[in-house]
Amino acid sequence: MPASSMDELVSLCKRRGFIFQSSDIYGGLQGIYDYGPLGVELKNNLKAAWWRAMVYERDDVEGLDAAILTNPLTLKYSGHEDTFTDPLVDCRSCKARHRADHLTERKCPNCGSTDLTDPRPFNLMFKTALGPVSDGSTFGYLRPETAQAIFTNFRNVVDATSRRPPFGIAQIGKAFRNEITPRNFIFRVREFEQMELEFFVEPGTDEEWHEAWIEERLAWWDAQGVSRSRLELFRVPPDELAHYSKATVDLMYHFPHGVEELEGIANRTDFDLGSHTKSQGEFVIAAKVMPNNDSNTKLAVQDPDSKTWTVPYVIEPSAGVDRGVLAVLNEAYRVEQLDNGTERTVLGFRPHLAPIKVAVVPLKRNHDGIVAKARAIKQQLSALGLGRVLYEHTGNIGKAYRRHDEVGTPLCVTVDFDTIEKDDTVTVRDRDTMAQQRVAVGALGDFVKDYFR
Ligand code: GAP
Repeated sequence: MPASSMDELVSLCKRRGFIFQSSDIYGGLQGIYDYGPLGVELKNNLKAAWWRAMVYERDDVEGLDAAILTNPLTLKYSGHEDTFTDPLVDCRSCKARHRADHLTERKCPNCGSTDLTDPRPFNLMFKTALGPVSDGSTFGYLRPETAQAIFTNFRNVVDATSRRPPFGIAQIGKAFRNEITPRNFIFRVREFEQMELEFFVEPGTDEEWHEAWIEERLAWWDAQGVSRSRLELFRVPPDELAHYSKATVDLMYHFPHGVEELEGIANRTDFDLGSHTKSQGEFVIAAKVMPNNDSNTKLAVQDPDSKTWTVPYVIEPSAGVDRGVLAVLNEAYRVEQLDNGTERTVLGFRPHLAPIKVAVVPLKRNHDGIVAKARAIKQQLSALGLGRVLYEHTGNIGKAYRRHDEVGTPLCVTVDFDTIEKDDTVTVRDRDTMAQQRVAVGALGDFVKDYFR
């Protein structure tokens, strides 16, 4: 049963060290968050799962990690300078600013006044000075999407790998948008991460590939614990499409605050490669090729036999990491009533996403033999390379189990007197069933590996 309110998640995230308001000690910074000790593990695990599925388990995708600071020409020809805007209205009474399309009525949600300005376009990109002269002549943008650097590196990747469509380029990284009204915890923020794949295909096969990628992505989210039944497909109406898109399907998740976009899967056609390509002689294939583009390259592929050039179409599954973390947390959260009248809070993450894989708990924290054995087991399990294994130093087994339920640790391994004095076995306790079983220390590595397989 997912969390019933955003407040419950926000509170758990702060209390247990998943997510903190950034610059908290100075009153915070609106729409900016920091990931704490468990949040960084969860986020890294989600990104690793995406990378595994997109790059390692496929034979048709290459990876990229491009710079965040972006040449303004890239974002001029991509269309972002002109069109990457949200409609902004000001309240003349209290001076609050709002996104016009988020207002349900023409009334300031802050003070109730109806004295609002007409909406005007507000560009969401952050600009920053490059180099020591800040007279505005040399500046870069913080990228508003990771995608553009995939397009501008298209030629480099093709030349380096000899790839031909269908193939993709995957990237995970930060993106920045100066959102007018960041809100709903990490759902709408100004600094976030995206996991984006640009999958290049022959024109004419694009619609088929688009549908195939929608199915792929639904299956992937399901494997992260975000089930198909909690996602709705929203086919974006033509008049709401982004400037580059021929068709977009949004995966809409039931977030605690409402049903909103988790991932967008767009058919960007040849818009971007065409826009970044200079029209050269006979090369005017792509409808969007800019005759006076400043780029010096042809972002296209040549048929080795006929020598004709084609600008591939691109299908783009673009997921937000932070929205993914929020969805995974929400799905994992449950409060269970126990037989003894108490309750426990559990984050039932899929094992590969759990921030801590195994907690090793010594029954007595001052007993040299038990402590030494527990530390040795911690080292042994860490060496399996499954992720973080924690040596738990509290000495209170019951409390340790509750705490690890609440942060989603799948297994707790308890070292007690029997371990060192009797039979060299430990108790392994399962987060979901709370079942406990004795496992020989010599067999523990295989037991844990099997669990996480
Ligand atoms: N390259 C395509 C693109 O950027 P988008 O729909 O604007 O498309 C893709 O963004 C994903 O990035 C969204 O589905 C969402 O998960 C995430 N995202 C966008 N803006 C965000 C924000 N302000 N805060 C958090 N995540 C955001």
